[in-house]
This record gives sequence, C-alpha cells and structure tokens, in this order.
Amino acid sequence: MGPLYTTDMSSIELASTLPKTYRIKNIVQETEMVRTYIFDGSLGAKPGQFVMVWLPGVDEKPFSVAFDDGAETKITFFAVGPMSEALAQAKKGDLVGLRGPFGTHYQWDAGDHIVLVAGGYGAAPMFFVASEAVKHGCTLEAIVGARGTEHLLYLKELESLKHVSLHVATDDGSMGHKGYNTEVLDELLQVAADPNTKDPPIDKVFACGPEMMLKAVLDISEKHRVPCQLSLERYMKCGFGICGNCVVDPLGIRLCVDGPVVKGEICRKIEEFGKYHRDDLGKKHEF
Ligand SMILES: Cc1cc2nc3c(=O)[nH]c(=O)nc-3n(C[C@H](O)[C@H](O)[C@H](O)COP(=O)(O)OP(=O)(O)OC[C@H]3O[C@@H](n4cnc5c(N)ncnc54)[C@H](O)[C@@H]3O)c2cc1C
Ligand code: FES
Repeated sequence: MGPLYTTDMSSIELASTLPKTYRIKNIVQETEMVRTYIFDGSLGAKPGQFVMVWLPGVDEKPFSVAFDDGAETKITFFAVGPMSEALAQAKKGDLVGLRGPFGTHYQWDAGDHIVLVAGGYGAAPMFFVASEAVKHGCTLEAIVGARGTEHLLYLKELESLKHVSLHVATDDGSMGHKGYNTEVLDELLQVAADPNTKDPPIDKVFACGPEMMLKAVLDISEKHRVPCQLSLERYMKCGFGICGNCVVDPLGIRLCVDGPVVKGEICRKIEEFGKYHRDDLGKKHEF
C-alpha cells in the first residue's frame, strides 16, 4: 500500500507510525546486562535509524536498529530502567510492538575509508554500518570501547567482516588500548594525516555512544579536518516529528526526524550538545 498521508516533515507511511507486532525469533545474552533480540521480519531500516519498541502497559522507547537484512531485525539493549528491564524479561517466541524505522541514517560514498567509534550499545549500529558499507567497497577501522573486557560488544561480529580492522580500548586496560576509544581515534587520524604514511586517507568518522564520547569525537575530527556523523539521543515520544519532545537548543530541530544521525557541523551548532538534555517533562539535566 502507498503512503496514506504525506506531510512536509516526512514521507513516513501512516502504517510505520503504528506499532506492529513482531515475534522474538532468538535472544543473545551479550553480557550480564545486555541482550540482543532478533525479530522475525524486516522493517527496511538503514544503519543509524531507530525503532520505537512498545511493551503494552509498560512503556514505549526508542532503540537503534542493530541489524536489518531484509528478513530479520535486531536490537541490542542495556537493562537499565523500568522499560528496558521489562523488555529483558521477554522470552523467545514473545510478541513485541515495533514501529518505524525512523530518523536519519549514516551516509557514505562507495570506496570510503571510514573510522567507526563505538561506546556502549553503539557497537551494534556500528556493526550494521560496517556490514552494509563493505558491500560498497568501503574499508573500515572499528574502534570499540568499554570499561573492561566483559562489557565489550560485537567484537566477533566486526572481526568476521572482511575489510574491517578492529581496535579495542578499555578503561581498565584489560584488552587493547588502556584508555578511551577517542584516544585511538586521535592516533588513527594523526597517522593518516602524516604525509609519509602508506595508509589510505580517512574520509569519514561515524560514532555512536555516550554523549561525552561523541563530544570528544567531534573535537578530534574537527582538529584533523575529517567530517563526522554522530548519533544523538534525546527523550523521544512520538518518534516521527509530532510531539516536539526531542527538539534541541537553540536550533529547534527534532532529533527523531533530523537525527539521530547528525553531521558534525550541525552538532557544533547545538548549544546543549555535551552539556545537557531534557527529560520527558522537558526538564534540563546536565551530563
Ligand atoms: C535514538 C535512540 C536510540 C536508542 N538506542 C538504544 C539502544 O540501541 N540500546 C539501548 O540500550 N538503549 C537505547 N536508547 C535508550 C533507550 O531508549 C532507553 O532510554 C533506555 O532503554 C532506558 O529506558 P528505561 O525506561 O528502561 O530506563 P530510564 O528510566 O529511562 O533510564 C534509567 C537510567 O539509565 C540511564 N540510561 C538510559 N539508557 C542507557 C543506556 N543505554 N546505558 C546506560 N544507561 C542508560 C538513564 O540516563 C537513567 O539514568 C536509545 C535512545 C534513543 C533516543
Ligand atoms: S519524539 Fe516527538 S517530535 Fe521527536
């Protein structure tokens, strides 16, 4: 069926703004607090987009699409609060409401050399980017960071992809670089900028993770004059531009429509970026 209505803000089909139930085909317990749900069915999502996950009688929250190959859809989530803990109780075979996909996605050109910076569940959408970008002849440097080895996500999946080099950073030094993944980014961009290097230049930096990590990615990418695309999180209710809950100061752009993936030059104009965010009632909270 074609679009039932079109607005100037989007061409989202009415059907995708209403939840549809999907069955959990499989569950992967990634770490103690992180699970991946594999849903039977595709929403046609692109890397960077999100879906609204609805648990009737509990809540509805946005989750990045961790994978969508046209046959199945994955989300990877931390059980950290009321909604995500209730979601973590679901069993294989249960039905969950999904609507979407919503928002912007990462954009690359064929043959690009891209650095991916992943913190927390951000490793999941970065894997989705990598698995699609390699089909377009891209080569990728994936930097996955976490507090310690036991919290690292999607290492095996990223390692399994051809043309992807994996870099790891842990705060406690238990694997890879001891320190932040953004320090590895700085080093990679430094080496790539060296006129004597044999490495190909880096065309783009993509990142998904905690906002203070994204802020560092923006600063470092700007320092090395490499364009970046960052996935920003704000409290979302409708997910497709109606409620205004996800607008950011002072631009007033809605991150569910003009984001979550935002180009570095736009992030720079968002005054609240790396400083504060608003809750469901619009109250400010400092990072
Ligand atoms: C575009 C977008 C994409 C998102 N994608 C994902 C995703 O792929 N996976 C995912 O786990 N979450 C994701 N989130 C966050 C998710 O929507 C919920 O906010 C999260 O699941 C917590 O909801 P809750 O109701 O369980 O707990 P809340 O009561 O909302 O949060 C409990 C506490 O945990 C903190 N918190 C929220 N999210 C996280 C987190 N991921 N890790 C650590 N602490 C957190 C909150 O700041 C709060 O202090 C995304 C958010 C947005 C806006
Ligand atoms: S979540 Fe409603 S406008 Fe963005």
